[in-house]
Amino acid sequence: MAPRFGSLCYILVLIELCLVHHSLQQINPIVMGPVDTEAAEGTDAVFYCKVRTGQGLIVYWIVDRSIAVGPNVNRNEALPKYEIFGNPSNGYYNLRIKNVTLDDAFQYDCLVDAQGGGSNYEAGATLSVVNPAMAPGVPSCLDTTANEIVFDEGDELGNFRCRSSGGRPLGELKWSLLRSDQTLVDVNFDTQVDTSPSITATSSSYTMTAADHESQLACSLTHPSLNSDATCTVPSGSTKLIVRHFPIIDFGPRLDVHYLETKNVTIRCTATAYPGLIINVPELTFSDRSILLQTTLVEEGAIEAVIRISQRSDVGKSINCSATNAMGTTTTTLEIELTPVLPIWLLVVLMIIACLIVLLLSLCCCYCFCNGCKPKPTDDRPDLGDIKAAGYDVSESRSASVFQPNGLNGTDLRPINNDDDSFADMPLNDYTEYPPPPPVSDTTTTGFNDHETGEVNDGYLSPDAEDRFPPMIEDEHLMGEKRISSFKPDDMNLAPSPPPPPPLDLAPPKPIPIVEDE
Ligand SMILES: *[C@@H]1O[C@H](CO)[C@@H](O)[C@H](O)[C@H]1NC(C)=O
Ligand SMILES: *[C@@H]1O[C@H](CO)[C@@H](O)[C@H](O)[C@H]1NC(C)=O
Ligand SMILES: *[C@@H]1O[C@H](CO)[C@@H](O)[C@H](O)[C@H]1NC(C)=O
Repeated sequence: MAPRFGSLCYILVLIELCLVHHSLQQINPIVMGPVDTEAAEGTDAVFYCKVRTGQGLIVYWIVDRSIAVGPNVNRNEALPKYEIFGNPSNGYYNLRIKNVTLDDAFQYDCLVDAQGGGSNYEAGATLSVVNPAMAPGVPSCLDTTANEIVFDEGDELGNFRCRSSGGRPLGELKWSLLRSDQTLVDVNFDTQVDTSPSITATSSSYTMTAADHESQLACSLTHPSLNSDATCTVPSGSTKLIVRHFPIIDFGPRLDVHYLETKNVTIRCTATAYPGLIINVPELTFSDRSILLQTTLVEEGAIEAVIRISQRSDVGKSINCSATNAMGTTTTTLEIELTPVLPIWLLVVLMIIACLIVLLLSLCCCYCFCNGCKPKPTDDRPDLGDIKAAGYDVSESRSASVFQPNGLNGTDLRPINNDDDSFADMPLNDYTEYPPPPPVSDTTTTGFNDHETGEVNDGYLSPDAEDRFPPMIEDEHLMGEKRISSFKPDDMNLAPSPPPPPPLDLAPPKPIPIVEDE
């Protein structure tokens, strides 16, 4: 018998420990667990699980006591069938089982890990797969009324219930506000499922704003067998929720001026309010009334003003528009601001001036350059010679044909078709001695020395190297051609090449005979 008593004691101690442990724990964090439900093949089944908020809880869903989905959201791409959804700030971690098949008829457990508490809590329910799908009953708004419901700005919306019964699976309910501008705003709500079966959604924690004036609270039911959501509204029919609010002022446009700008601007102030404005017209107040040209009352609650503002005197001045109703007064201020940008006309003028300056400068340059060239008109010639020497035909006003292509290969090297007398008049034998020497003085003082480095520069020696005089052209082609004694006189003009030392350039052909004398 002793061992029996022993085991009994052991069990009692265990139970006691459990109780003590339990009393140390927080209360069960699961506020509302899932409820057994039915779904047809191909539809979505939903289990709801609401937990206490604000305790750093972690929620999993356990499928068939074996697969854990979660925590808190399903990010596991291998389990695309499951979605954890709902409003966590309200404590909802619901499980959606998509596209149910017969193989999904399992137990589903909402498991909450109370972090630090050391224990888990869970609540489970079973999914039955039953065909066919059946539409639920239309939602009914239980707390509705045909009368106006009046709030003040900042009031809580309160609890409105909406219920849908039956259906396989149950429908899904949702509350929102349908505003007068046809936008939908989500409203928090609680969801309750009971075994009848039915589902109830209760609106909660929503603060009314001026924008919600003349809206309707709408409960919508979604179900796979419904083509579109079924809804019920609070208030029912076309009655709207009333939100008493301070005047809402729309005042614009923004006032900005650029540098050096003066302009006339039309500003408009519109005020809407519930209850209505005490004085029908919003009031404009100017920090400096001298900018005002005129005001016009456009319609009830709207006023326009034409003002003249200038960057020099008006930046920083302000205009107030205020409107008052039973709730109080709203004031909106427009300030004249400086946008640090030059006006377009000034930019255009500056650009034109810049263009003119550039044009003027380039004209000056051209003038100076051309003037500098005029004393040595022959400078252009070597270019022709270069082109020609390279075997190209030259088309210029000065007949290019005077240079036979590749003058070296032709048998007739005399100029043909020479219309230009300045070339024709040149004596043929002028070219037997080439190149013309520099002035004597220059020769005697510097010889072959490079004027800059002081070195003797062989590069200046012509192919006729015995010549003591530096050649006037660097182009070796030409030098070669020059040796043909029958070469036409035109090349004589080519002889002074552009880059040679200035004194050589200016040297007239006359010195040639002097050289011969020596
Ligand atoms: C639902 O599941 C069935 C069977 O697995 C499949 O044939 C069908 O394409 C699925 N439908 C959707 C919308 O995923
Ligand atoms: C601005 O208004 C004044 C006064 O009505 C008028 O003389 C002036 O021509 C207007 N200027 C422009 C740019 O419209
Ligand atoms: C505009 O309103 C503000 C407060 O809203 C006030 O401080 C300011 O003096 C007002 N300006 C004018 C020109 O009335």
